[in-house]
Amino acid sequence: MELKPISKIAILASGRGSNFEAIASAVISGDLPAEIVLIASDKQEAPVLEKAKSKGLRVLAEKDQSALLGVLKSLQVDYVVLAGYMRILSKDFISAFADPRGFSRIVNIHPSLLPAFPGLESYRKAFESGVKVAGVTVHFVDAGIDTGPICAQESFEISDCKTLEEVEARGLAVEHKLYAKTLNWILRNEFKINERGGRLHVQPY
Ligand code: GAR
Repeated sequence: MELKPISKIAILASGRGSNFEAIASAVISGDLPAEIVLIASDKQEAPVLEKAKSKGLRVLAEKDQSALLGVLKSLQVDYVVLAGYMRILSKDFISAFADPRGFSRIVNIHPSLLPAFPGLESYRKAFESGVKVAGVTVHFVDAGIDTGPICAQESFEISDCKTLEEVEARGLAVEHKLYAKTLNWILRNEFKINERGGRLHVQPY
């Protein structure tokens, strides 16, 4: 893939938008070589849309994935960044962002050390399972649920957390740093893809 100085990214989010805010801060401070061309949500009332509007960014509330895909294509988006987007993307949507190297140019952040605790409420699942270490994963999206090639992971201790809220607060702080850091090398194209154990493996330079 040709190296672009600035990638066009669209952020999809369903709710609060704290990861969106962290990414937007990294873009504004010049730490992330990206232009945020759209913030889209499947929920009209999602707080992330107001947060994005207040930064002067283009927003869209659109549930229909083929309509959303049409907009993303017209904006010539390079990477789609999922930041708390709680919908499963269709096969057509994912293949529209296929990279010739075998992955999709759709990135997700998931609040667990995948493959542990896929799906919804992963911090709750970790908290209630009694594990001592929780974590965060950034991965490329494939057709499965939280199964795509893993780009980065970071763990954190939760054995001293008394409440789920403590776990979430600790996790979100990790997410915000890890997502901006990982997107940085993804957008700069500073990684290689290998196969390991029958699965794609993403390795930053
Ligand atoms: C984050 O914890 C993110 O990892 C999670 O939703 C939250 C969104 O918070 N995503 C998933 O669970 C995806 N399956 P935010 O709206 O404040 O960024």
